[in-house]
Amino acid sequence: MKVNKFSFEFEEYASIDELTEGEAELMRQAIEATENAYAPYSHFKVGAALRLSNGKTVLGNNQENVAYPSGLCAERVAFFHANAIYPDASIEVVAITAKTQDFQIDEPVTPCGSCRQVMSESESRQDKKIRILLMGQSGRVFAIHSVEDLLPFVFRAEGLKKKKFNLNRGSH
Ligand code: THU
Repeated sequence: MKVNKFSFEFEEYASIDELTEGEAELMRQAIEATENAYAPYSHFKVGAALRLSNGKTVLGNNQENVAYPSGLCAERVAFFHANAIYPDASIEVVAITAKTQDFQIDEPVTPCGSCRQVMSESESRQDKKIRILLMGQSGRVFAIHSVEDLLPFVFRAEGLKKKKFNLNRGSH
């Protein structure tokens, strides 16, 4: 038996004021995006702002639904939107934040597992790392260097191909 260890480095900024002007602006756009979130059930309004290689910014926010699982997180709204309108541009940075009327969010919000999976596919599709900025309503900002860091042992397309190959072999 062998014990392995997974670790990664990330940056921590005391507040949005410590970011470069470009990244602070992207975070301000994510804050603005929270305003248009549709979150009547959770009251948890998430905003995501993506900076693309073509210079465009794409926003997303969570869109809830009375049939709860039909709703979608801010990150996936933003990533799918970016891939829908600019399929050839790569996503360089994503800023994510959230607010709620129910309490003060002083710690960085982190994307859910399904969003990490979708962000991961965007990263491997463009073959360029995506920088991830995370913030609450106030306080520290985390900067993660790659989606890979947030999703160790990610399911990859190679796994799918192997599975298909085995199935085909079995059926002939
Ligand atoms: N939510 C996001 O938009 N992003 C996340 O990464 C976590 C959760 C949304 C989904 C739901 O509308 C609300 O926050 C509460 O879970």
